[in-house]
Amino acid sequence: MDQHRTPLFDALVAHAAKNPLQFHIPGHKKGTGMDPEFRNFIGDNALSIDLINIAPLDDLHQPSGAIHEAQRLAAEAFGAEHTFFSVQGTSSAIQTMIMAVCSPGDKIIVPRNVHKSVMSAIIFAGARPVFLSPAMDEQLGIAHGVTTRSVRKALEIHPDAKAVFVINPTYFGISANLKEIVELAHSFNVPVLVDEAHGVHIQFHDELPLSAMQAGADMAATSVHKLGGSLTQSSILNVRGNRISPKRVQAFLSMLTTTSTSYLLLASLDTARRNLSLNGRAMASRAITLARDARDALNRIPDVYCFGEDIIGTEATYDFDPTKLTIHVRKLGITGYEAERRLREQFNIEVEMSDMYNILCIVTPGDTEETTGTLVNAIRALSEEKPGKEEIRNVMVKNPAIPTLALPPRDAFYAHTESVPLAEADGRIIAEFIMVYPPGIPILLPGEVISQDNIDYITEHVEIGLPVQGPEDKTIKNVKVIVEERAIFA
Ligand SMILES: Cc1ncc(COP(=O)(O)O)c(C=O)c1O
Repeated sequence: MDQHRTPLFDALVAHAAKNPLQFHIPGHKKGTGMDPEFRNFIGDNALSIDLINIAPLDDLHQPSGAIHEAQRLAAEAFGAEHTFFSVQGTSSAIQTMIMAVCSPGDKIIVPRNVHKSVMSAIIFAGARPVFLSPAMDEQLGIAHGVTTRSVRKALEIHPDAKAVFVINPTYFGISANLKEIVELAHSFNVPVLVDEAHGVHIQFHDELPLSAMQAGADMAATSVHKLGGSLTQSSILNVRGNRISPKRVQAFLSMLTTTSTSYLLLASLDTARRNLSLNGRAMASRAITLARDARDALNRIPDVYCFGEDIIGTEATYDFDPTKLTIHVRKLGITGYEAERRLREQFNIEVEMSDMYNILCIVTPGDTEETTGTLVNAIRALSEEKPGKEEIRNVMVKNPAIPTLALPPRDAFYAHTESVPLAEADGRIIAEFIMVYPPGIPILLPGEVISQDNIDYITEHVEIGLPVQGPEDKTIKNVKVIVEERAIFA
């Protein structure tokens, strides 16, 4: 196929150029019916292609024209057999993947540190998660992926699982040996679904980890908007092989997707695919070089550490994406949160994410030596300020034990619940989510049995002031548990 083509974008531009008299939504009608300040700011070009599924522009729910062709071009570029566009991010692509393979009661093998869209899909589908504990880097306070060994163990115990779900690469750019995991799962005839939210670019450069499609996975949900240059919320879902029915994928994606699909988002996917396909290698090379130089400079700053190839070599750290800069600031005596705040307030720099010990900065083809140089200089200035008196004390960044699942998460979610003091919740079944940072791994998920260990783990984290997320009661004094029906004695 000719990857220079952008059938959907071309169709939109040609349609706008005809300047038809519009009696359909959106009611702003090329911007003329909207707030003038916003119209002026956004610009008439963008508004002229903010259109809907009228016949000449095809329909994402039943594509047969320009969208169909744009998706076929994307499939070729991403090494897939079928590519589906998502206007609701990778979150709904992940939900589609899980719902396309899991019926109520089915098992799915998933790492414990999955994105919340995975848990919501498990609840929607009524599936039973079999959790794998991710490998922890206790020094950096971050979770990596899962190991082949743990996947093998899970498959041996649960050969009836409907899928193995893998995050590749992680938020911090770390990859497990995905090819090996895929081969293993396929030897059990179990499909592999990949959360590739942070890996759209890896397809296009051989110095980056293998993409899901390159590794032979069956499906991958990929955020083109995160690192591939399309507009926020636009993602793709790639499918290959004969274990997954593309018709079922289309049906679920359609069930989960708005009928008012944004053509701005769809056109940005069409054009991002062209750019990645034609220039992806050169763009990735540029980002890799900029990030490598920045990493070297950061590692020359006293008390600052930014991991590079030295992280590779364990089963869970098989490969990594050098365009991610995880800057470890513990030795500066400040937390990652504090570093993020200082970078914002003193240097007008916004980072991607911060946690207890680190800040995460992404380097993309949108960067230059000037932008990465400004970041390095700001970190150097922070180091010279010596903001903290001493290294942040080592808080427990241990992997919380995975509790027993007493009920499928959906049953727990919909069950009759009551609120009880956390201190008295030992043995009860929780009906809500509890996560603490670090390491950002759920401590408890709906349907799990609360143990005294869980209570102690949460209490220790709360006492030292680490953020806890999820429960309705933000103070975590009380938790929502399932009401136990007591026997009635007459
Ligand atoms: C690991 C991971 N998976 C999935 C998602 C969801 O992606 P999206 O924001 O495109 O819906 C995110 C978003 O941050 C993520 O970090």
